[in-house]
Amino acid sequence: MNEFIPVAWDGDGVRYLDQRLLPHEVRYERARTAAEIEGAIKSLAIRGAPCIGVFAAYGVALLRRTIADDARFLDAARRVREARPTAVNLAWAVDRVLGADDPLKEAQTIHEEQIAIDEAIAQNGFELIPKNARIVTICNTGPLATAGGGTALGVIIAAQRGAKKPHVFACETRPLLQGARLNYLELSQAGVDAVLMADSAAAIAMKRKGIDLVIAGADRVASNGDTANKIGTYALAILAAHHGIPFYIAAPRSTFDFTIAGGDEIPIEERSAEEVSSFAGTRVAPEGAAVYNPAFDVTPGHLITAFVTECGIIRSPYVESIPDLELRPRVPAYPA
Ligand code: MRU
Repeated sequence: MNEFIPVAWDGDGVRYLDQRLLPHEVRYERARTAAEIEGAIKSLAIRGAPCIGVFAAYGVALLRRTIADDARFLDAARRVREARPTAVNLAWAVDRVLGADDPLKEAQTIHEEQIAIDEAIAQNGFELIPKNARIVTICNTGPLATAGGGTALGVIIAAQRGAKKPHVFACETRPLLQGARLNYLELSQAGVDAVLMADSAAAIAMKRKGIDLVIAGADRVASNGDTANKIGTYALAILAAHHGIPFYIAAPRSTFDFTIAGGDEIPIEERSAEEVSSFAGTRVAPEGAAVYNPAFDVTPGHLITAFVTECGIIRSPYVESIPDLELRPRVPAYPA
């Protein structure tokens, strides 16, 4: 049972849970202005590719109501659309709302669809999880990350509910610890047996802990299967290949960018030096240390065993199966 409501329309603004404060504090905020909507996304108060999309959809619907001047409204919507560059769900959701006759209804549909899509991903992924599977995962990919039931973590939770008794090795996910703070929290809420580990423990876990599979989410998938996800995912995929362990990505079709051929075209967000040079607000690196802080990396498609989507399991050759995914009927089958 999801105890949190990451995003909701409350009639007067977009209500959201500030995920930066979890697990220690549960604080809901309301975004009313373009700056507040953009700020919540940029600061990672709201994060996770599908969840950002749902939040931005409500946000742009709100701005359409509050900004009468068309040019000002479009400028505000553009700023929201560009608040984070890697997760394609953000631009996809904003464009859907901008193209709709009734922006609020469209935002609500995007949210309802996400809930149904996550259920389908969980059902489709269920078959990939053996009984008593020992699973490595990274970042947070549960309800907090999608405003539905989750992607990779949604599959794991389905396995738990289906009495498969998965055992999860959750990467802490430096530098912002979405794994330690959020994924472990959601694993515990779902009653999944889990241990938290440093990201750098993944190699020895795969060597010594009988890992059966790795499953992660995605922020953008190119037409050839190259996949951007939280920094550290690429390393997990290389390790999984080295150890002969299947590596799965669970993601909705809205995370696939059919307009780009390969991962080199995916913009990678680089975040502030302080995220790396400090820990929990305390500087740990020498004053003035230079920092490289990409928030995401790109896993080449050839390292990915399969994608779990709401439309089914997608396997290689991805240059054929991913363009084919674009043509498949929408799930759920909402009227256009
Ligand atoms: O920087 P974040 O916390 O927004 O990054 C989130 C991730 O990388 C997730 O793995 C991804 O968005 C998939 S969430 C279902």
